[in-house]
Amino acid sequence: MRKNIVAGNWKMNLKRDEGLNLVNDVINLLPSDNKVEVVFAPSFIHLYKVNKMCLGLDKVNTASQNVGKEEKGAFTGEVSAEMIKSANVKYAIIGHSERREYFKETNEDLKQKIDVSLKNNLEVIFCCGESLNQREEGVHFNCIKSQISESLFHLLSDDFRKIVIAYEPIWAIGTGLTASSNQAEEIHKFIRKIIAQRYGEELSNSTSILYGGSCNPTNAKELFSKDNIDGGLIGGASLNAESFIEIIKSF
Ligand code: PGA
Repeated sequence: MRKNIVAGNWKMNLKRDEGLNLVNDVINLLPSDNKVEVVFAPSFIHLYKVNKMCLGLDKVNTASQNVGKEEKGAFTGEVSAEMIKSANVKYAIIGHSERREYFKETNEDLKQKIDVSLKNNLEVIFCCGESLNQREEGVHFNCIKSQISESLFHLLSDDFRKIVIAYEPIWAIGTGLTASSNQAEEIHKFIRKIIAQRYGEELSNSTSILYGGSCNPTNAKELFSKDNIDGGLIGGASLNAESFIEIIKSF
């Protein structure tokens, strides 16, 4: 059975006290019958402390927003998968469109980051998604297929089981524009189909596929009601406890 996940990607936001207060508030507001895995992805400087606050809680975990592609060594400013794992963090977010665009990360770089993460027992939230131009030119299916196949399809089945996919159309991220639930479902179905072609139906059906891009308390219920949408990767709306909790409660 695949899991429902709501992950909050804080990006480069929140000072230490703001971040810790947010985590505290979300934990306090979580419904006692919560069935969704909640994931906080703070910046590296808060990650260890946030993870400590989540230890021992049921279905509350953390993710790094990035991971260095090398194992270790003279790479000033980088943080390795081994270090992240040593802080007991569960996931690494890899391939966010902001990393692809502003830091020029290629499918090949992401493949290396995925390999080093899995080697260090981190699970991966792998982001993919097309730009507005690509959608308008009708090449969005091909774009998503190459992002996924070039970075992930070298994995053996047992490793692919540790991958969560997040579909994040770039034109919807931080713009207030959301893919309609039907547009998102169409892509999620397509992603599940290409996973099935590579790894078979069983593995495809057990892969969690999240939607990201201006997901908020108003549209989350409709998005999460779709058969192939298993949760969300939330940016802006995860920076406020009430809105993040409303999204978690949308299942
Ligand atoms: P947004 O960001 O919810 O602010 O659009 C989503 C993301 O980039 O993960």
